[in-house]
Amino acid sequence: MTDQKLPKVLVTSTEYPDVGMEILRNKCEIIQISTNGFEDKVKTREEIEKLIAGVEGIIWSSSVRLDSDLINKAGSQLKVVASMSAGVDHIDKDELKARNIILTNTPDVLNAAVADVAILLMVGTARRLPERIEEVKSGNWEIGPQRMLGLDIKGSTVGIVGLGGIGQMIVNRLKGFELKTILYCGHKEKPEAAELGAEFVPFDDLLTRSDFIFICCSLNETSTNLMDANAFSKMQKTAILINVSRGGVIDQEALYNALNTKQIYAAGLDVTTPEPLPKEHPLNSLSNCFITPHLGSATRQTRYDMAQLSALNLILGLQGQNPLTPVF
Ligand code: DGY
Repeated sequence: MTDQKLPKVLVTSTEYPDVGMEILRNKCEIIQISTNGFEDKVKTREEIEKLIAGVEGIIWSSSVRLDSDLINKAGSQLKVVASMSAGVDHIDKDELKARNIILTNTPDVLNAAVADVAILLMVGTARRLPERIEEVKSGNWEIGPQRMLGLDIKGSTVGIVGLGGIGQMIVNRLKGFELKTILYCGHKEKPEAAELGAEFVPFDDLLTRSDFIFICCSLNETSTNLMDANAFSKMQKTAILINVSRGGVIDQEALYNALNTKQIYAAGLDVTTPEPLPKEHPLNSLSNCFITPHLGSATRQTRYDMAQLSALNLILGLQGQNPLTPVF
């Protein structure tokens, strides 16, 4: 990179944090879209389409899918896509790979924040918090020895689907909860599991034995609709499902049926399909479904760290150096 000809970089959100912009400034010619990248997907996409041609780097901070059409429109000079997210299921990886374009993400820096929300959903579903809050707000408290009864976490078995960074952080967070057993499943055994006291089991065993199941795997061809009607039929009636991964890991119609017929006790979801979930969506009508609006990584420090990491990745990639957290 020279002072004369700075590489053009597209930033796909008007809300991309200052820390990231500061890293890019003076090193790139920045083109920034005027929407926040998540609000109005149609408008955001239209704007990206207009601005993407000729850029060498992209900060992808948007829920719009970076598909082959957009990658084509960018042109053959595109070198690096730095996503400000851990998950990259909204990016056409095959197309980028085929064109030798570097893809980076922001893993690890969000593990603690996402794990906090997973615990929030666990406690909130076990104690049926949304219903209790409604009762407080309407002044109709249910008081009595047999009222408001939730489920215990102490002595329970927890199953982690995908013991990556977030899954491991959840297990660390759970240390004080006096669990009975921690199970996990995935493609292969994880070296970190021994220290965490987690037992590697087949998916079906995890389904039948767990009181709480945490979905922490990434969304891909294998994990799409992993939690389907068949999976729910294997879970205990008192089991709780927590999802902090992506909505697509769960067959939502099957989940609705499992919750509605009390085949399982409750679900806590920080992620859904689509996002935002329309207010009239059937899952919103269920008292045993606790939904938060994909706020896993939404803390000041975490978003700061994600922006910083994505900008550093982009600059390193453009300079021909190894990015800090490449996907490839
Ligand atoms: C991610 O980065 O993948 C998170 O889901 C965003 O909150």
